[in-house]
Order: sequence, then C-alpha cells, then structure tokens
Amino acid sequence: MSNARDIRPRQDDASLLATSPSASFNSPSSHSSAFNRTVPVNAKPLKPFATEDIKVLLLENVNQTGREILSQQGYQVEFLKSSLPEDQLIEKIRDVHVIGIRSKTKLTARVLKEAKNLIVIGCFCIGTNQVDLQYAADQGIAVFNSPFSNSRSVAELVIGEMVMLARQLGDRSSEMHAGTWNKVSNGCWEIRGKTLGIIGYGHIGAQLSVLAEAMGMSVIYYDVLNIMSLGTARQVEALDDLLAEADFITCHVPELPETKGMIGQKQFEKMKKGSYLINASRGTVVDIPALIDAMRSGKVAGAALDVYPNEPAGNGDYFNNDLNSWGADLRSLKNLILTPHIGGSTEEAQKAIGVEVAQALVRYANEGSTLGAVNLPEVVLRSLTMDEPDHARVIYIHKNIPGVLRKVNEIIGDHNVDKQMTDSRGDVAYLMADISNVDAATIKELYTSLESLPSRIMTRVLY
Ligand SMILES: NC(=O)c1ccc[n+]([C@@H]2O[C@H](COP(=O)([O-])OP(=O)(O)OC[C@H]3O[C@@H](n4cnc5c(N)ncnc54)[C@H](O)[C@@H]3O)[C@@H](O)[C@H]2O)c1
Repeated sequence: MSNARDIRPRQDDASLLATSPSASFNSPSSHSSAFNRTVPVNAKPLKPFATEDIKVLLLENVNQTGREILSQQGYQVEFLKSSLPEDQLIEKIRDVHVIGIRSKTKLTARVLKEAKNLIVIGCFCIGTNQVDLQYAADQGIAVFNSPFSNSRSVAELVIGEMVMLARQLGDRSSEMHAGTWNKVSNGCWEIRGKTLGIIGYGHIGAQLSVLAEAMGMSVIYYDVLNIMSLGTARQVEALDDLLAEADFITCHVPELPETKGMIGQKQFEKMKKGSYLINASRGTVVDIPALIDAMRSGKVAGAALDVYPNEPAGNGDYFNNDLNSWGADLRSLKNLILTPHIGGSTEEAQKAIGVEVAQALVRYANEGSTLGAVNLPEVVLRSLTMDEPDHARVIYIHKNIPGVLRKVNEIIGDHNVDKQMTDSRGDVAYLMADISNVDAATIKELYTSLESLPSRIMTRVLY
C-alpha cells in the first residue's frame, strides 16, 4: 500500500486542482518492513493537490537506505554525491519539494528564499546547524534530522575503550609499532566485576548499561531525571556518589550550561585512585587541563576522549595547540585513547540515519505529520483510511497571532471536522484537520479561503 500524497501547489498554478497522479506514483511499493510499520495497512493513498509529482533532491551521498525509501514512494528523486556551490544550489532548490542534505550543505536564508516549492528539509545527520531553522520555520518548511540513530555505535565504542584502557592496549600497540616488545601485567585488569558509572542514562547510556552488564560489570548511573533502570543497574542520587563508587566513569550528557565542566578538578578528587574516565558526549563536559593533572598524578589510570571543546571542520593535521592550548600536554599522556569524534561513525549508523530521516520526510510529505521536526511544533493525526473515501486533510501553517483559530474555523467549521489538532512553537503554529464529505470543488474552495488569510504561512490539502 502506498500512502498519502499531497503536494503544496506551485505558486504559479495554485488554481489547478489535481487529477489522479500517475499510475506509478500510486502503485504499491515494496519498501522495507521498517518503513511499512510506520503506515497503517489500510492507509488511504492521498493525491497531490497540484498535478506535479513530488520532486526530491538528495545531496552529499545520502545513504542508499534513504534513497530507496524515497524512490519507492514514486517521488522523482535526483541524487548527487557531493554538496553544491551556493549558486548551483539556488538553481536546483527552486524546483524541489523535498531536499535531503548532510552537514556540508548550508541552507541559509538566502538559499531558502529561492525555494518556492520546498515543504521539507531532511538532514541525514545528527546536527542541524547547517540550516537556518528559524527562517525555514517562518516559511513553513519543516526540518527533520536523526539524533539517536548512532546510539548503539557509541555504546559499543565505550565498551571497547574500557577493555583497551584496562589492558593499556593503546600503549602496547604504539610500542609494538615502534619496535618495542613490552610484556606487562602490572596495572592491567579484566573489566568483569568492576563498577561502571554512567553519567546521563539516555539513549546511549541505557544501551551501554545493558552491554556492560553482559560483560560482567556492575552498573550505576546518575541522571537529572528519575529513570527506570535496565537489568540490575542502579540509579544513584548524586554525581558524587557515582564518582566515589565507580571504577570506570563515562559521560553521556548533552551539551548544556549545567554540563559544562561537569567533570573538573573537584570531581577528579572524588574519584577512586586508579579509575578510568571516558568522554564521548560533548567536548565541554570534561575540563581537560584538570584531566591532564589527574592523569599525571596517577589519580586517573587511563582515559578515552572522542570529543573536544574545539574540533576542526575537516580532516588533517589540525589537532595541535592552535586548536586547543593544552593539545601537546594531552597527547604526551600514557594510556590515553584519543579519537576524532567517531563515536557514532559506523556504516550501521549511516543506514539507520537514512531510514529514519527518509521515513520522516515521507510521513511529512504524505500525511503532514511533524513528529520529530526540529523547528515546527509536533502535530500528528492518525492516518486517513480507505474506509474514509471523501475525506480531506487540511494543513494550515500560520503565524502564531491571536484570533487565527476563529478565522480558520469559520472556513472549515461548516464542514464535518472529524479530528483537528493545533500546536505552536514560537511565532509559528501548525494546524491539521481531517474533514469528511468533501468533493473536489469544496477542497479547492477551502484551500483558496485559507490561503487568503493574512496569518497564512503555508496551506496544504491532502485528499
Ligand atoms: N561521540 C559521538 O560521535 C556522539 C554520537 C552521538 C551522541 N553523542 C553525544 O552523546 C551525548 C548523549 O547522547 P544521547 O543520545 O544518549 O542523549 P539523550 O538525550 O538520549 O540522553 C542524555 C541524558 O542525559 C541526562 N542529563 C541531562 N543533563 C544532565 C545533567 N546535568 N546531569 C546528569 N544527567 C543529565 C538526560 O536526562 C538524559 O537522560 C550527547 O551529548 C550527544 O551529543 C556523541
């Protein structure tokens, strides 16, 4: 079953009402079971408002999983391996309804201003700094990303690093590369039976908890929220409790004012002598000069860092004192694993990102669901089904100013509104309503009336 279709009309042919989309556009798709789970079996295939099909531009070698999901919808997908210089991007973006990017494509206000048909942006990555989110919201363009697809990859890296640190593997390997045979057992340990302290028991922390227990570790965790433990893990009340008890301490908190320098000199003093520290969260969480002191004094027996306060924009020999003033001191330490922010960098994570973002784009294009959007309020209605043949779904993205709902309800209120939901985020509000017993002429009338309201940012009608 393929699913809902709309498209926001082109500005120059808003008066056109769609005929049926092409057969291939509506033909049953055979995409992954993961995708099928997101759409009810009898979801109604909605038609585009305008006669064109959905045009998708994918840049920066977006993972094949994402490409397939979008192509199998019948969308016209153009795929490019690289990003585009701004002038070429502006040319291309004029025409498309959906754009998929990774971190190198900058979707600035200047670029988005030219995107007359764009309804949604998919960032096939974790961050969204490359997009002017507020400008996009002000134009009614939704933005999606994939913040948690790489949780498992980070958790596995931490497990590997604990074993490496406990056995001083980084040092032994460097010595062997330099031709030195240095067989030692002093200060080398199994991780079985040791206590892991997880700071931040979210997506990554919780995955790690399960894996660590399977390795025979005891797990304690500290989180600002009261979170139910997995397995036999135990939440502690205060960070100090965790620092005093854990043999291995690992940070998995977001970058917030409260987490800046969360592990500094005072915290190192509270740790057990000979404990280990891992940070694969954000570079500001650990005070690195304090870590250097703690390692030099022997308080900390080993550490692994994947993230840094300043990180270079590209690959090269940039990890020096110009980047971070303590760079050379850090690099001189023994039993210290340094990695270039690769915690989430795996093929599996890229695939998962491809699936998650493509699914969000399809749900938004076909059903108007903003669940997971980073710049619009999250609004979802259950899918229209095949049992509801004369229904239309009205989506009205509007300025969040007083009196809009009254005006909208004056327009749709004469019809039978089966379900309706609205929410706002800052200056922008998102309304979605399912209306029954409407014919093509009524749909057109509804669309035209909503478009004429001064509060309008974007109107879409799916039917
Ligand atoms: N190294 C990498 O490549 C990589 C990859 C993915 C994520 N990350 C980073 O890992 C971190 C965790 O990611 P996640 O997906 O598990 O996030 P998450 O939002 O799922 O979990 C974060 C947890 O930290 C808790 N928390 C927030 N503030 C806290 C505080 N002051 N003290 C204690 N707990 C606090 C939250 O309640 C939450 O449970 C983030 O900083 C993220 O940017 C790094």
